[in-house]
Amino acid sequence: MTDKRTLLLLPGDGIGPEVMGEVEKILDWFNTHRGLGFTWEEGLIGGACYDAHGVALTDATVDRAKQVDATLLGAVGGPKWDGVAYEHRPEAGLLRIRKELDLFANLRPAICFDALTEASSLKPDLVAGLDILIVRELTGGVYFGEPRGIEDLGGGERRGVNTQVYTTSEIRRLARVGYELARKRGGKVTSAEKSNVMESGLLWRQEAEKLHKEEYADLAYENMLADACAMQLVRAPKQFDVIITDNLFGDILSDEASMLTGSLGMLPSASLGEVNPATGKPFALYEPVHGSAPDIAGQGIANPLATVMSFAMALRYSFDLGEEADRLEAAVKHVLAEGLRTGDIMQPGMRQVGTLQMGEAIRGALQASL
Ligand code: IPM
Ligand code: MG
Repeated sequence: MTDKRTLLLLPGDGIGPEVMGEVEKILDWFNTHRGLGFTWEEGLIGGACYDAHGVALTDATVDRAKQVDATLLGAVGGPKWDGVAYEHRPEAGLLRIRKELDLFANLRPAICFDALTEASSLKPDLVAGLDILIVRELTGGVYFGEPRGIEDLGGGERRGVNTQVYTTSEIRRLARVGYELARKRGGKVTSAEKSNVMESGLLWRQEAEKLHKEEYADLAYENMLADACAMQLVRAPKQFDVIITDNLFGDILSDEASMLTGSLGMLPSASLGEVNPATGKPFALYEPVHGSAPDIAGQGIANPLATVMSFAMALRYSFDLGEEADRLEAAVKHVLAEGLRTGDIMQPGMRQVGTLQMGEAIRGALQASL
């Protein structure tokens, strides 16, 4: 274990390198002005890694990710790699790093900033003050279940198979993360599954309920079918505090929740595993919820805020620097309140800026916070 704070940055594809560039400048700011002593190295993932090495993630990068305190990722994917073999597609790199580090708990907050209430596709009163957290299982379920594959049945007929599978311990460790976080937040947990159709959903529900009764009876708890949860998220999103759910439903519900906040470009995420013996900290990967946005890549107009706030989550969950995380999140709120907007969250009367100006404004607000 060391006193140094180490990071691995994986900018990835599309707008990934642009938004990660702003995080690097913010890291510099924290080193210079807060003496935090961050050191970082860069690695390749996704299409960028495929172009260099013929795979979406190398063993060497996986090893580095296991040695550092936290890994920050930009985004992966793009049409350039559409023709690549399925097992080497850019997304495979992301799935592999999640699995290799056993990052079973994916925290996806959906927070509606006051300044962006009008940017939501829902009526402002439905989303004003929204602060919910989706805790998505990330290393199991149908994403990784066996058997899987495409089988040739002959005569032009094929069969595609994936397996939805969960065990008691997988469900319990994920639910525990949700309950622990709910205790520090609004004190309510909703477990979303399809127990009316799937045995794995029934098990999910039973195990989540049991753990609640055994250890978390102080919290409000409810089960909700995942489809009903999707509906309630747009009907009355503020009824939720923490939603615990599986890998696939979490993927879908978190995209839905993100739109409530006005833009996918605003949402950070943290993926956490067990404590890493090499660092004494949980295995951790931080990434924006948005993708690589190849349509706007390289134009300097991408919104860096989700990646910046992913770094804020790293400050909080990997480095136990909650006050510095608050400082960075306050800086983001400040620039939004001042009317600065990237194109994706632009509204009448606001000032449209590019990636670099947004980063610069955040560092200005950080400076003003001293
Ligand atoms: C996400 C993404 C990924 C997922 C893709 C890129 C593999 O949609 O992080 O939500 O499905 O998990
Ligand atoms: Mg997704």
